[in-house]
Amino acid sequence: MFYQKTLTKVRVWDLPTRIFHWALAIGMVGLAISGTVGGNAMVWHFRFGYAVLALLLFRLVWGLVGGYWSRFGAFIYAPQSIIDYLKGKGQPEHSVGHSPVGALSVFAMLAFLVFQVGSGLVSDDEIAFSGPLTRFVSNATVSLATNYHANIGKWILLALVLMHMAAIVFYLLRKHNLVGAMLHGDKELVRQVPASRDDTASRLSALLVFLLCAGVAYWVSTLEVAAF
Ligand code: HEM
Repeated sequence: MFYQKTLTKVRVWDLPTRIFHWALAIGMVGLAISGTVGGNAMVWHFRFGYAVLALLLFRLVWGLVGGYWSRFGAFIYAPQSIIDYLKGKGQPEHSVGHSPVGALSVFAMLAFLVFQVGSGLVSDDEIAFSGPLTRFVSNATVSLATNYHANIGKWILLALVLMHMAAIVFYLLRKHNLVGAMLHGDKELVRQVPASRDDTASRLSALLVFLLCAGVAYWVSTLEVAAF
């Protein structure tokens, strides 16, 4: 006897999370290019840096109040779940939001992005550009942060992003397209699972949260001291 599996369309990634994701990807490319070119392009490096700061602040808040599958609580897994998943014994609900291993990579990317932006704010190239918060910390901290920002953190992030993309391609080759849901928000699932809230009210509240975060990032930018 054949059973027809009924697929249900479920909103997994709400619009704010999707916009966050693609804006972050663009911001990271902008940061990498402007940081590598250096010189006058550093003005853009700072602009992209403040934009990514605003995005990260937004995601930290959205991880608490956002759509069901965007909340950190939906993808914090016990170590045993991660081990089971790696052994191929994952649960069906692991394929809805971030899987246990995907969640590890998401938390690693967000954490190292926080370190990268944080260290950038107190970095100083001793030529023309100095982060807006350098004058609030000791010279030793500036020197440590600058070394981390320019020589260590960026490579860790590059490795994490490359691993992220390799994982997406790996799943794609196994006929599991994760990218679609990050574009249109939905997954076709066999079982009933909670959907992420993504209505006008939640989108407007996301916009409000983002504007507040952008305000904080802008305020941080005003602390820059012009170098002459
Ligand atoms: C600099 C580039 C990128 C960065 C920094 C980045 C970062 C992230 C982060 C932080 C998340 C978690 C989203 C959240 O819960 O808020 C995520 C998820 C995701 N990203 Fe990216 N991403 C990048 C590029 C890409 C590209 C180029 C693609 C596809 C072509 C992609 C596809 C996805 C998908 C499909 C997910 C959801 C994964 C899942 O289902 O668990 N990302 N990415």
